[in-house]
Amino acid sequence: MAYLKPDEPEKVYVPALRKAKKRGEKLACLTAYNYPTARIVDEAGVELILVGDSIGNVIHGYGNTIPVTLEEILSATKAVKRGSERALIIADMPYGTYHINEDETVRNALQLMKEGGAEAVKLEGGSNRINLVKRLVNEEIPVVAHIGLTPQSVHKLGGYSVQGKTVEDAKKLIEDAKLMEEAGAFAIVLELVPREIAEMITNELKISTIGIGAGLVCDIQVLVLHDLVGLTFGRLPRFVRQYADIRGIMTEAVSNWMDDVKNGNYPNDEESYGMPKSVDLNRVKE
Ligand code: KIV
Repeated sequence: MAYLKPDEPEKVYVPALRKAKKRGEKLACLTAYNYPTARIVDEAGVELILVGDSIGNVIHGYGNTIPVTLEEILSATKAVKRGSERALIIADMPYGTYHINEDETVRNALQLMKEGGAEAVKLEGGSNRINLVKRLVNEEIPVVAHIGLTPQSVHKLGGYSVQGKTVEDAKKLIEDAKLMEEAGAFAIVLELVPREIAEMITNELKISTIGIGAGLVCDIQVLVLHDLVGLTFGRLPRFVRQYADIRGIMTEAVSNWMDDVKNGNYPNDEESYGMPKSVDLNRVKE
């Protein structure tokens, strides 16, 4: 008996990344933090969804990612899981959830997978995370590493600037990337790294590089969805290409609705409910 192939494109799992890299096929990754954005991103065909701790900036208005909690990422991951069918779902491990000890890190990562539906976790750091990444991978938890600008280190770094701009710093980045591959990470985010260094890393590694502000050569590109569609406040980083002005569209819609409310144009009869003709309204007034 022949089996029909499903109409839907195949679900993306970790091994698909290695195959895509071998074929030289670029993949796309976007953040999502709730059901509707996950559906939009997934249905558009983006291969990876990151439930990023950038939720702290773009959703909760914290100003940075430091205050983000496991509960916030967990709740967002559950909603993203419900909204997506095909993309690989990666949950960010918030600051403080992988810093105490390995057992606690495993417990937190397992919660993101078992309760949240995450299919992989991401954590920031290089050589300082070798044992942690090994331990997670040993517990069947797929790991994405993250080097270059690591926003959870904002206080240590003193801001959000391009990393790896000296020979020593660039060498350290390349070394860190190799160490993360050896430790078992299946992909690595390169954030705000000179494109020449990102290219060297991408060519050196068998695992996929996920670039943000790291140039064209990375295997996968990632952006924060809200930056891409224009739903943020303040200045956008240079690497963001904004494809829509959703904030402008929303503001216009809200203003138009407000005008209609104030002018008595909303709601009209089609937008409200009338009593059945058979009911005598005089009797209601009695
Ligand atoms: O939290 C996030 O959105 C990220 C990406 C920018 C890589 O870590």
